Amino acid sequence: MAKRLEIGSSLHMIVLKSVKSLLMSPIWIFQLGTSAKSFLDNPLLGSQRLNRLGLHRLRVRIAGALCDWRRRRLARKVRKDWREAFDRDGYVAIENVIPAEQFPKLREAILGYEGEAREMRQGDAITRRLAIDPAMFRSIPELRRLLGRADLKALFHYVAGFRIEPLHYVQTIVTHDASNEADPQESLHADAFHSSLKSWLFLNPVPADEAPFTFVPGSHRLNKARLDWEYRRSLSDPRAIDRLSARGSPRVGESDLAEMGLPQPRPLAVAGNTLVVADTLGFHARGGSVRPIERVEIWSYSRRNPFLPWLGGDPLSLPGLAERRIGWLWRLRDRFENVAGQPWRSVGQRRAVDALD
Ligand SMILES: [Fe+2]
Repeated sequence: MAKRLEIGSSLHMIVLKSVKSLLMSPIWIFQLGTSAKSFLDNPLLGSQRLNRLGLHRLRVRIAGALCDWRRRRLARKVRKDWREAFDRDGYVAIENVIPAEQFPKLREAILGYEGEAREMRQGDAITRRLAIDPAMFRSIPELRRLLGRADLKALFHYVAGFRIEPLHYVQTIVTHDASNEADPQESLHADAFHSSLKSWLFLNPVPADEAPFTFVPGSHRLNKARLDWEYRRSLSDPRAIDRLSARGSPRVGESDLAEMGLPQPRPLAVAGNTLVVADTLGFHARGGSVRPIERVEIWSYSRRNPFLPWLGGDPLSLPGLAERRIGWLWRLRDRFENVAGQPWRSVGQRRAVDALD
């Protein structure tokens, strides 16, 4: 009797799995042409057989070729020295990005601003974010002027590979609270298999031993060595490797860098009022710190379907809509927390520098 029940429940599971696959397969196929990157959540992306045939490598190559093509069309408007530094290293660090005489006033205004804040814990780091939204722009008009500067917008577009408006936040990072967990941002990784933009405008100096942004120079380039490495990593069983790599943000060690002929990671110790703009296809991390840190920065982010063969056409980048997106995103995820999760916990009205609870 027990045996019959066991067979019955196994059959039931097999039928359920088959029905799920049947229903999901159009979605999994559709995702091949999007930024979907998790080898765990999409069995086509994670298929060792398809990847042996070159599926992952092909996606990386097509996304890379389209990004090169779009960047060539966006290059003309970018300051030459910034573009050359970025093309060489995969990031550019711009000191005194705000005129030195204006920086202290703008910094004070940002640090003193109180707005709706969200917080998330990752390992021993807590990140607080305030959206740079219409209310913040009304209170700090200089911030709107800064983020609307033609030279910075051209650079953001070039690095993102799209003429779209990044999401902008005021972000506070606090490390070494009571937790002993490791911070996953501290291990060297690429964010995805394709280019995207992240930038940090540091409002305080960042010493080399206080969790500096760290980047492997030149690791944004999709040369043969990187493509071969991408191919090799796509052959692993996604359930047998670390979870973040399997979900599409590959972690790398010394031996991986050596295999790709890449140099050692470079920690960026910078003065306050330095803007760092990077392509997070390159390998990067938040460096370690010898002491607890609390850092405030303007953090910006652009990511889009890497297979789109055009530059703009994003209605949500229009002024009036662009600065409202973060609030909408937060509320959307609150609404669908059960399905998609919501790691960003609302903590009410806060300033970037207010103490954590
Ligand atoms: Fe990252």
